[in-house]
Formats: sequence, structure tokens, C-alpha cells
Amino acid sequence: MTPSPAPAGSTRVLVAFASRHGGTRQIAATIASALRSVAPAGSRGMSTVLAPVELWPDPTRFDAVVLGSAVYGGRWLDQAVRWTEAWALALRGTAPGCSPAGWPRPPLSSLRRPPTSSG
Ligand SMILES: Cc1cc2nc3c(=O)[nH]c(=O)nc-3n(C[C@H](O)[C@H](O)[C@H](O)COP(=O)(O)O)c2cc1C
Repeated sequence: MTPSPAPAGSTRVLVAFASRHGGTRQIAATIASALRSVAPAGSRGMSTVLAPVELWPDPTRFDAVVLGSAVYGGRWLDQAVRWTEAWALALRGTAPGCSPAGWPRPPLSSLRRPPTSSG
């Protein structure tokens, strides 16, 4: 997947999501829109690309990644786990993000475990 060109100097953020019924997609779209409106004084702001993980977005083209998955039965959707595992090395080099569900990006080893209330 090739994102649209970002304005020169802006921070490029990928908002990737896995959704079954559209709820997570809506949350991801809201986050992408909010990030686009962030423009600290003197900065060129952020350009965001909203992409379902099924389209296999390439995180190496971005400065930061926000990833969110719907959770069913305590598990991320399979496609979110597959995408994260496939891009693990690249994701280690990005700024930390958080999932729309609200917990910090977990270590890969915990992706199949239910999220806990403490994080
Ligand atoms: C059968 C079923 C099981 C679910 N299991 C969990 C769960 O274990 N943990 C959780 O936080 N949410 C759980 N949810 C809630 C969904 O993750 C939540 O509604 C999510 O926003 C759905 O996202 P989607 O519309 O993008 O598919 C469950 C929902 C359903 C219908």
C-alpha cells in the first residue's frame, strides 16, 4: 500500500486498525482526524494515513504508528496479530503508540492474552 505524499516537514503518522463490525474503524478515524488537526506553533503538523491492516500498510514509510484492534474473546483480531508480527522489527523503531481500545502497545508476546485493567 502506498500512502499519499505528505507535506514536506510534517510528521507522518500511520493509523492502522483491525475491525470486524466498524467500531474500531470509527475510533481509528477519529484519532487520525484529531492528529491531523494538531499543529504546534512552528511545526508543519501531522499528516495521517488511515488504513486497515488487511491492506498491509508499510509502517517504514511513517514516523509513528498508532495501531488498534477490536478485541473478541480477549484476543486481538488475527489480522492485527499477523500484521504486527510481520512488521515487528520496523515497529520497534517507531514512536510508541496506543491502541484505540486504550492500552499501551503491548509486547508481541502478550498479543494473544486478554488485556488487563492495569494495562
Ligand atoms: C462476541 C464478542 C466478544 C467480545 N469480547 C471482548 C473482549 O474479550 N474484550 C473486550 O475488551 N471487548 C470485547 N468485545 C467488544 C468488542 O471488542 C468491541 O465491541 C469492539 O469495539 C468491536 O470492534 P469492531 O466493531 O471494530 O469489530 C466483544 C464483543 C463481542 C460481540
